[in-house]
Amino acid sequence: MEEKEYKVLFVCLGNICRSPAAEGIFADMVKKEGLQNRIKVDSAGTAGYHNGELPDYRMRQHGARRGYKFDSISRKFLAVDFDQFDMIIAMDDSNYDNIMRLAPDLESEKKVHRMVDFSRKYKYDHIPDPYYSGSDGFELVLDLLEDACAGLLEEIKQKI
Ligand code: 4NP
Repeated sequence: MEEKEYKVLFVCLGNICRSPAAEGIFADMVKKEGLQNRIKVDSAGTAGYHNGELPDYRMRQHGARRGYKFDSISRKFLAVDFDQFDMIIAMDDSNYDNIMRLAPDLESEKKVHRMVDFSRKYKYDHIPDPYYSGSDGFELVLDLLEDACAGLLEEIKQKI
């Protein structure tokens, strides 16, 4: 019998910096473990400002230096995503609140988590928005995401 896919959605504000990077990093880890048929990954933004755009060129550049290809197309987070995904992961508290506001029921609310809850090495209370930062901000986001994605994958492997 075919096993059910476990679906993860990363969410930030614009879906051009943090969440597409989380998607790319996590998909890479999933693939390296041969779990790409069991775990599906996507990303979205609570605002639709950048609908249809590739990730921010700075995020793509910083990602490429670490061997990632961030090429998902920005889209807005919608209430129907609660039906489609098993886990919805917010980058900061504002994303978390905006996602929760759209949750239709308790079961949906339980799907929502904060990315930093999966951190292992770092003690940040959110993934900082790098949009108005310099290179350091983008590098920090990648460090935090690589760490939290590893923790997240360990947790999901216990569930599937
Ligand atoms: P993200 O970063 O939420 O990590 O994709 C941002 C992207 C765009 C804007 C803000 C944050 N913006 O204001 O356009």
